[in-house]
Amino acid sequence: MKILVLNGPNINMLGIREPDIYGRQSYEYLVETLKKHAAEKGVEVSFYQSNHEGSLVDAIQQAYFDKIDGIVFNPAAYTHTSVAIADALKAVGIPTVEVHISDVAAREDFRQISYIRGIAVKTIAGKGLDGYSLAIDFLVDGE
Ligand code: DQA
Repeated sequence: MKILVLNGPNINMLGIREPDIYGRQSYEYLVETLKKHAAEKGVEVSFYQSNHEGSLVDAIQQAYFDKIDGIVFNPAAYTHTSVAIADALKAVGIPTVEVHISDVAAREDFRQISYIRGIAVKTIAGKGLDGYSLAIDFLVDGE
């Protein structure tokens, strides 16, 4: 099984950006943790992070041609704005788990809209970086 872990804008700033909300661990730490977790689960994992909407659309399209089986996706701020990213996910039809580090439901009104939620097979929010591992587990085990 091949899983793509996809992250949107400012996730490369983990550990620096608003640590009270997003924690003190870096993006590199997240990648290393998920590599180990994926190895334990026996899945192949790849990573991509971009601050650019079109680059994320390109990565979603590429996932189709790379025969990716599942996407773990934190679209970050584009969650709340991007029809293009939502359309790309619909176009490829790859099962996608939407992940948010913070509990978006308990935050500002503008974070209550998600263009991704209706397309994702599951949404995990408010579990910190553990949410990404839980998303891998869901794609692999269905739980
Ligand atoms: C986020 C929540 C979004 O509202 C925000 O724009 C982010 C990160 C999260 O992981 O909690 O950049 O997706």
